[in-house]
Amino acid sequence: MKVLVVGGGGREHALVWKLQQSPQVEQVFCAPGNPGMKGVTAVPVADLDELADFASREGIELTMVGPEAPLCAGIVDIFRAKGLRIVGPNQVAAQLEGSKSYAKDFMARHGLPTAACGVFTAAEPALAYLREQGAPIVVKADGLAAGKGVIVATTLAEAEEAVRDCFSGRFGDAGARVVIEECLFGEEASILALTDGKTIVPLASSQDHKRLGDGDTGPNTGGMGAYSPAPVVTEALWETVNREVLGRFLAGCQADGLDFHGVIYAGIMVTENGPKVLEFNVRFGDPETQAVLMRLDSDLAEALVATADGCLDQVQLVWSAEPAVCVVMASGGYPESYAKGLPITGIDEAEANGAVVFHAGTKLVDGQLVNNGGRVLGVTARGTDLRAAVDRAYQAVACISWQDVQYRHDIAHRAFGRQ
Ligand code: AMP
Ligand code: GLY
Repeated sequence: MKVLVVGGGGREHALVWKLQQSPQVEQVFCAPGNPGMKGVTAVPVADLDELADFASREGIELTMVGPEAPLCAGIVDIFRAKGLRIVGPNQVAAQLEGSKSYAKDFMARHGLPTAACGVFTAAEPALAYLREQGAPIVVKADGLAAGKGVIVATTLAEAEEAVRDCFSGRFGDAGARVVIEECLFGEEASILALTDGKTIVPLASSQDHKRLGDGDTGPNTGGMGAYSPAPVVTEALWETVNREVLGRFLAGCQADGLDFHGVIYAGIMVTENGPKVLEFNVRFGDPETQAVLMRLDSDLAEALVATADGCLDQVQLVWSAEPAVCVVMASGGYPESYAKGLPITGIDEAEANGAVVFHAGTKLVDGQLVNNGGRVLGVTARGTDLRAAVDRAYQAVACISWQDVQYRHDIAHRAFGRQ
């Protein structure tokens, strides 16, 4: 089977890596791919219609979409119209990620636990609501804002500024509508699941590290590391999440007639009053996927085909009991501005001890690998226990360097804190 992965970051590198292990997969294509992907045919096509034409011509039998942008732009509708098999929600269902107010309405309609909120299309009523609610409070641009549209405001002044920012066009169209949400407290976890619209199959739990600095300090980032499983997701919590989040999600999709053959990612906050959904993503998480897929012992291609074809009930995912950890190595200055084009060394040594280095923001210039983005590498390892996995990942990290590289030294600290 020929498989196409859409995207070019660490998540897509992990998807490619896992798909290449499938006995059913003979060739993997990736659009656009990245320099770390070995044995992959790069497809330098960004236009979705052209990509679908390419997939038809090439006889691609399975397409897996990594990022949210093409899903929200309707890639699934375009591929399906050409009779191509693709994993992901259609454009309507992708609004669960593309519009936070759409997601909040969906959750309210179908009884999923989430923070109380108000939705506003003008500054004045939004500001009045803020004053009524008080701080701390959370202000969210409605649309896709590359992870920057959420402001957890500790003071009223901060919240007011966030509202004014949104309506002044800082996030473009994404900020024309604003969701103001009750501030929740607790530990976060990432719950991913495959669904074909009839069956929902949870993946192993994981936890992201969104803040830049050790001890969860500093600015928010796209994710500085992840590990799986997340011990905050106890057996009792799994049961609640399965029933109140995943079960109601599936029933909601069915009741609304949403076409969802893909990955649903619920970011949850484990509060004193149980799990609450912070957000939906309609795709695999990055960097959670790097850790989660390293623990998947069964065939990903088979599971994805079943997701697209509507026979997920026949698939049994097999997970390793061994934890996995992904440490993100980032450019100095990220998430603000940073220098690009700095030579990276040590990846082969890093991989010699069983770690896998997934590329996210790299580029080859005259045969030399250089940094080309904020998050550059996701160094991922599995171990007999969490400590062993963490140690193996950090031993690999220590082999790699470039000028001003930065990374967190405490990935998985919450799990150790519980032990
Ligand atoms: P989101 O993109 O909606 O997941 O938000 C990004 C991050 O903002 C989350 O991972 C949380 O850390 C934080 N966040 C979002 N909503 C809330 C909330 N209602 N209360 C507290 N923190 C939140
Ligand atoms: N790790 C957060 C995300 O993928 O959105």
